[in-house]
Amino acid sequence: MRHQRWGLELSALLALPSLITAVTFDCNHLRVDGQSFDLSALKGPHAVHYIEDTPPSLSNTTFTLDICNPLQRTKDVPKADECPGGTRVCGIETDYNLADGTSSIKKVVPIAGEYTSSNGRSMDPTLERLKNSASHGDSEREGVRVVLNGGNYPFDKSSGTPQKAIIEFVCDPDRTGLEHVEGDSREKVDDAAEGRMKRRADDDKKEDGDKGGDKGDDKDKEEEDDASLKFISYKTEGEADREAGVLRLEWRTKYACEGQTEHEPSKGKSNHWGFFTWFLIILFLGVAAYLIFGSWLNYNRYGARGWDLVPHGDTIRDLPYLMKDWGRSIVGTVQGHGTRGGYSAV
Ligand SMILES: *[C@@H]1O[C@H](CO)[C@@H](O)[C@H](O)[C@H]1NC(C)=O
Repeated sequence: MRHQRWGLELSALLALPSLITAVTFDCNHLRVDGQSFDLSALKGPHAVHYIEDTPPSLSNTTFTLDICNPLQRTKDVPKADECPGGTRVCGIETDYNLADGTSSIKKVVPIAGEYTSSNGRSMDPTLERLKNSASHGDSEREGVRVVLNGGNYPFDKSSGTPQKAIIEFVCDPDRTGLEHVEGDSREKVDDAAEGRMKRRADDDKKEDGDKGGDKGDDKDKEEEDDASLKFISYKTEGEADREAGVLRLEWRTKYACEGQTEHEPSKGKSNHWGFFTWFLIILFLGVAAYLIFGSWLNYNRYGARGWDLVPHGDTIRDLPYLMKDWGRSIVGTVQGHGTRGGYSAV
């Protein structure tokens, strides 16, 4: 009961109870409106495609996202052909010229990510619970809407168009969320060993393999319709200086169902940890304040210098010796016990 009141007061402090901006985005512990969601089962890079017929070419935009970690660079792909470090959601448009069979990368759009160290933009994740939402449509559904920001296109231009991803995780008890969802199995750049990476032959072989798997288009189409992760739209939304490129995705998964993490006692546990941490912090601050104030008093009142400044300075100074003595006496006791039993075998 008490914890709940604390929770209420806290969310009141944060202004909007159902719309909370999380400082960090922990995919395994999204908390909104008193509900916890653990989406860590959906971790790793996942991709959806948006195909546009743009004669004479076919435009194929691949949106890759990883809700738990920044996307990693792909081995043997030039840096300019991928999103910058820190990206969580990336859009890459490839145009296939159907007439001459060539293809080229047209756009690389960093949509969301933590870029505080590169261009100063941050992901600013916003969570909103769908159930009991103010919107009529949403109130029927169960899940959480996540907005991830930070992107900009062109990335380095302050005049670029801001980008964001709106992902609705919708409760579907029959789905894990990985049904027919494309992963990204391409080998990633091992940051630790970036120096010894060039192995073209390997990758060429792999590319051939990928093409071989592209048969059965009808089956692909069916699977795409039934995929748990769905592309809804990507377009410019908002007017004038509030214009932004918005990617909308829908992800049906049982992990967006409420009560999915309720049986875990994590709620109470985290609270107790919270109190314990606070207790330690206050204790530490108290001791620090005592020492500082004591020193100041000793200095001003009694003109103390050096070790005499510190309250109980003698005891503190002797602490190592006391510890050593104590340790020695323990070792002595143990050894005493050992040798009392007679000679040990060598
Ligand atoms: C779009 O690109 C992806 C990855 O490059 C590929 O798997 C998919 O088949 C392409 N779709 C079409 C219709 O070309």
